[in-house]
Amino acid sequence: MAGEDPSRCTEIRPCLALVKQFPANLSVAQAQAIARKLDFPPWQEKFPRANPRTVRSLPPGADFKKIKKAMTMTQHVGELNPPVRLMLTPGPSSVDPRVYRALATPLVGHMDPWFKGCMDETQVLLRQIFQTENRITMPLSASGSGGIEASVVNVLEEGDEAIVAVNGVFSERMYEIATRASSKVIKVEAPYGKPVAAEDVRRAGKGKKIKMIGLAQGETSTGVLTRIDAFRKVADEFGALLVVDTVASLAAVPLHVDRERVDICFSGSQKAISAPPGMSPITVSPAAEEVFRKRKTKVQSWYFDLTTAMNYWGKDRLYHHTPPISLIFALREAMRLVIEESLEARWERHRINQLALIAGLDAMGLKLLAENPADRLPTVTAVMVPAGVDEVKLRDQLLDEFNIEIAGGFGPLKGKIWRVGLMGYCSQKANVLLFLAALEKCLTDQGFRVGSGAGVGAAVKNYCHAEAAAVVSR
Ligand SMILES: Cc1ncc(COP(=O)(O)O)c(C=O)c1O
Repeated sequence: MAGEDPSRCTEIRPCLALVKQFPANLSVAQAQAIARKLDFPPWQEKFPRANPRTVRSLPPGADFKKIKKAMTMTQHVGELNPPVRLMLTPGPSSVDPRVYRALATPLVGHMDPWFKGCMDETQVLLRQIFQTENRITMPLSASGSGGIEASVVNVLEEGDEAIVAVNGVFSERMYEIATRASSKVIKVEAPYGKPVAAEDVRRAGKGKKIKMIGLAQGETSTGVLTRIDAFRKVADEFGALLVVDTVASLAAVPLHVDRERVDICFSGSQKAISAPPGMSPITVSPAAEEVFRKRKTKVQSWYFDLTTAMNYWGKDRLYHHTPPISLIFALREAMRLVIEESLEARWERHRINQLALIAGLDAMGLKLLAENPADRLPTVTAVMVPAGVDEVKLRDQLLDEFNIEIAGGFGPLKGKIWRVGLMGYCSQKANVLLFLAALEKCLTDQGFRVGSGAGVGAAVKNYCHAEAAAVVSR
């Protein structure tokens, strides 16, 4: 708290002026007395980046607006120095050091002939990861939500009928975006923790001219996996396009865009591909391209009009917008890592690590939101918060004590679940074991009884079985 030094009087006055009911011309003693009584934070707390010299130069009695402006305009920002976290979240995931190196590669122009070759390579890798030969295959300059937006607004025009299968926040987002493109969108829902039944979609669309069926292969908000094939059948019956969100599943869960005849498939760079956030890979089938060609109206979004965006990513390489070149470098390197590992090995790695995690959680007496093992998304495990345990406090402790970040639930699941991500670079044996040990410590600190080492022990056993089975099958 300030002493009797008149220059420091100004440090209390602005704070008191903040609460408005106090005049700015209080004496030092009055100001101190009130501040102490109110336990009012000193100016450093209100303006943590304030430059002390600026604060001292303010005349006593300066009004709050002037003080705020002076502090804001002269605040000091230090060099970037983030903590090193283990991001076991539902995205973004930690990235391989090779991806950081690619991110720091010197820039070239987006119309540079060399960069055009780099774009070719990026598209080659994307086609391999999507398992497609689709002409329109590119990374959108957008996060995963941009992928949803682009998919939906290129297909739907006002009056078109569509169905979106909703079983969580992200499929709900697709529905919300679709309703902005057409007023005739039907939502078919499943309870959180379960996939939507394709049969319910069939029933909802009966007798209608359904143009699009949308779903999330991996619903990140609930940790639920939806199998695509049954929806493809229903889409065929309706003559509809199938749009699939693979933001949380691409490169972690089996997917063959051409073989499974997904018409539009999009993802996000920051999850199982393990590149930084900011790009949304997308691929479009010839059938969907035909639908784009037959549109009666222009796509409502200029930026996400895939036909014009392909002028840049297609053979002409014509300027459309300036893409995030460094992110493309990083995405390219992350995808090279995927292909070096092989898709099949990567799918298996995600499966095995989640099984070990689940074995550990089970041994610790914890339950999962998705009760049916076949419905569990390998990248995100939604764990029920046990009675008597403070959900937020536990996550805070994991972060403070172990540098591990996990996520909580959204909407109706807020406070009820934790979401543990094991995606891409983060889906590693060492991370599973560290997480289970850290979780045991945090649960124990909250008085939740866990058998000592039970989680880690069960996970280790699981790994040993999986490795032995792999040797036998070789
Ligand atoms: C399945 C799914 N779809 C869409 C999104 C939206 O992606 P973004 O947050 O990158 O816009 C997310 C994000 O977590 C997601 O998990």
